Amino acid sequence: MKRLFIIFLILALPIMVAAKEKGHIKTQETQECSECHKSQTEAWQKGKHEVMGVKCIVCHGSTEKNFIAKPDMYRCRGCHGEKVSEVEKNLPPKLRNCFLCHDRHSVTPKFHSKGGK
Ligand code: HEC
Ligand code: HEC
Ligand code: HEC
Ligand code: HEC
Repeated sequence: MKRLFIIFLILALPIMVAAKEKGHIKTQETQECSECHKSQTEAWQKGKHEVMGVKCIVCHGSTEKNFIAKPDMYRCRGCHGEKVSEVEKNLPPKLRNCFLCHDRHSVTPKFHSKGGK
């Protein structure tokens, strides 16, 4: 029994450590993301997501639960399903990331495309 427990611990440890890294420091309910993350908020305000109401929690979840430090492109699917499919079709798995080409917070394209895409 004791041996089983030790084996369980060895197996679970990396998972526990990884889970811990994903969390956010404790914040008060009344605190806005913008109080502590000025530069990200300013970039976000410059882009279309602010006017369209795509708030921080849409990509990052809440700081209390479901916090996501590194949102991937499947967070975008609900609103940009066609783009996600396009990326799946055209890029190899390791490169499937919208932020290769878009700033993560202003979401403006990082390069210009002359004559459309
Ligand atoms: C009281 C201040 C405070 C508030 C409020 C706050 N954060 Fe943070 N946040 C921090 C600190 C401190 C860190 C860790 C700083 C670092 O590692 O650079 C952090 C880290 C992060 C990270 C990076 C995590 C990682 O592991 O790379 C993200 C993403 C983030 N916060 C998003 C948010 C979002 C979204 C909100 C609002 C829902 C929010 N934060 C509210 C202070 C705050
Ligand atoms: C469209 C999705 C999206 C929205 C909306 C969004 N973020 Fe992020 N955020 C990201 C991505 C992607 C990263 C980079 C993760 C990585 O390193 O791979 C990131 C990273 C961060 C980080 C870590 C430091 C950094 O700049 O890389 C902080 C802090 C952060 N976001 C805060 C915010 C705050 C505050 C808001 C709202 C004003 C917000 N985010 C809105 C996608 C988003
Ligand atoms: C809740 C819906 C929603 C989610 C989720 C969402 N977006 Fe958006 N996004 C919008 C809306 C609405 C617009 C403005 C209309 C448009 O350009 O399609 C927009 C615009 C954009 C633009 C165009 C910006 C420009 O300057 O023309 C990019 C790029 C973008 N989003 C990237 C992302 C990425 C990447 C994710 C996932 C990490 C994401 N969005 C998640 C709703 C969303
Ligand atoms: C290989 C680079 C690249 C990748 C990867 C990429 N985009 Fe784009 N995206 C662009 C460029 C460049 C533009 C500007 C196109 C133009 O103006 O004709 C753009 C424009 C957009 C627009 C606004 C204009 C439109 O066509 O509706 C949205 C929304 C968008 N991208 C979302 C996404 C999402 C979501 C992802 C990930 C699933 C993504 N993009 C991945 C390069 C990219």
